[in-house]
Amino acid sequence: MDSPVALGRLEVARTVPTRGACSPEREQSAHLNGCVPLSHQVAGHKYGVDKVGILQHPDGTVLKQLQPPPRGPREMQFYSMVYAEDCCDQCLIDLRQHLPTYYGTWSSPDTPTDSYLKLEDVTSRFQKPCIMDVKIGQKSYDPFASQEKRDQQISKYPLMEEMGFLLLGMRVYKTGSDSVDTYDQHYGRGLGKETVREGLSKFFYNGDVLRKDAVTCSILKVQKILEWFEGQSQLSFYASSLLFVYEGACSPGVVRSDGLLAPKACEQNNNIAQNLSSMFSLHKKACVRTHFQAKQDNGVWTTTQQPNGNRGQREEAEELQRDAEQDTGGDVEVKMIDFAHVFPSDGHDQGYIYGLKNLLKVLRQILEE
Ligand SMILES: Nc1ncnc2c1ncn2[C@@H]1O[C@H](COP(=O)(O)OP(=O)(O)OP(=O)(O)O)[C@@H](O)[C@H]1O
Ligand SMILES: [Mg+2]
Repeated sequence: MDSPVALGRLEVARTVPTRGACSPEREQSAHLNGCVPLSHQVAGHKYGVDKVGILQHPDGTVLKQLQPPPRGPREMQFYSMVYAEDCCDQCLIDLRQHLPTYYGTWSSPDTPTDSYLKLEDVTSRFQKPCIMDVKIGQKSYDPFASQEKRDQQISKYPLMEEMGFLLLGMRVYKTGSDSVDTYDQHYGRGLGKETVREGLSKFFYNGDVLRKDAVTCSILKVQKILEWFEGQSQLSFYASSLLFVYEGACSPGVVRSDGLLAPKACEQNNNIAQNLSSMFSLHKKACVRTHFQAKQDNGVWTTTQQPNGNRGQREEAEELQRDAEQDTGGDVEVKMIDFAHVFPSDGHDQGYIYGLKNLLKVLRQILEE
């Protein structure tokens, strides 16, 4: 019998088409100047199902249709602000590395009044992308939401305040059967304190092994995002997500459509497990010390005055991280997406920070399995 955490599993595709291949179905559904509904979308509004949705442009970029005001224009303004050519706010410039690249807006000549945000497809460099969308924060509604909206959002996932994140959807490539398992938002809503570790770990299980290499790389990327949030106090993010992607192809014989061998993503998984776990504990120590040090910097120390040589330790952790990324082909992306509810603020985004920390805690628990 299915466990409660398997409730939201939607479909199991038995064959995974080669990426980029143009099947007859795909050609048939092509519209809007060759754009097609995004085939690997794991959450959110779906083209053809909802009034607005996400498309893929023939050039490989993702087109996100602008939501009705104020959400769509707000998201567009956010991207325009972060990617403004004349932007000299270092905080926003630093944020770019955690976002898909933004290429401005796009409209089809057939329907010039419909505007889309043109974005980098975060999954494009992956042969068999495993994708997960996790909503972050303690509130899914913004400070200007009506009581009705608040109640609706709270009733969708009453644990949001306590958990600080919600799994919205995922697709996981199964190596043995060359298939993908997909999970929808109902799956995530069924996860609570006791089941979230198991529920989330399904994302990293390829039917054969738990991809601890991908867990470790994900942790390191989330930690970088956390560092950005701890250093900024000008923006608050509500109902925004992290999009996780790792390379699911891991048998050495997988051949890409361009004829090259796919990266050996998890072949060395077991061999490097020891390295990864020592790297992780070093990195954790280094991060704790960095934060501690930052506090001390306000009043007492500077970096070079550290008394116990832990700078060396941080460098070692960073070197090990580079090694781990090489071992996995660096094949993990964690990007922030969905900015329809981003607002100026004058303090740290405590709800988002709380969510990131709790998510990191759960990811570390998966690593310790
Ligand atoms: N840049 C991207 N690269 C790859 N996939 C993306 C990208 N942006 C979005 N997606 C896919 O589309 C899904 C929905 O995206 P997003 O959250 O931005 O839209 P939404 O939830 O419909 O928007 P909104 O909450 O503003 O109505 C994601 O879960 C992901 O699968
Ligand atoms: Mg979304």
